[in-house]
Amino acid sequence: MTERTLIIIKPDGIQRHLAGEIIARFERKGFKLVAAKFVQLSEELARRLYQVHRRKPFFEGLVKYSASSPVLVTVWEAQGVIDMARKMMGATFGYEAQAGTIRGDFSCSRGYNLIHGSDSAESAEREINLFFNSDEIIDYELADGGWLYGRND
Ligand code: RTP
Ligand code: MG
Repeated sequence: MTERTLIIIKPDGIQRHLAGEIIARFERKGFKLVAAKFVQLSEELARRLYQVHRRKPFFEGLVKYSASSPVLVTVWEAQGVIDMARKMMGATFGYEAQAGTIRGDFSCSRGYNLIHGSDSAESAEREINLFFNSDEIIDYELADGGWLYGRND
């Protein structure tokens, strides 16, 4: 199966009207959108999403922020999508992220950084299962797949 990643447009991304801009970047890159859901996270679900950080000092603030306003939860598919999406997101803190990345272009903040992306195949599987049943992930062909993944070697 082609690799998948979970991408969440966080509360500040929705409130700042950047959801379309962020989705457009992944579309233009050539990732295939296979699932999407607009939801208000409960604090409990935010805790489960970010459970690896449960002992960190920023954890409670992260949970409150994540549940402070609706988010757009999406799943994207492409070969190597996890690493590519992380590069496109940029470094965690907006003020450190490179220009040209999503966080680098649209965030100056520390924790309010617009977007979440899975950081490994194991995280992606766990995170996707938190939000989607298997029948909510759509299997279809992109008409331009041959062009997106074309090789000349
Ligand atoms: P994400 O999981 O949301 O994709 O972000 P990330 O991998 O770039 O960063 P991570 O280390 O996993 O941290 C998760 C989220 O917690 C907030 N954070 N605040 N105040 C702080 O020191 C701090 N560190 C992390 C950010 O919202 C970060 O995206
Ligand atoms: Mg992370």
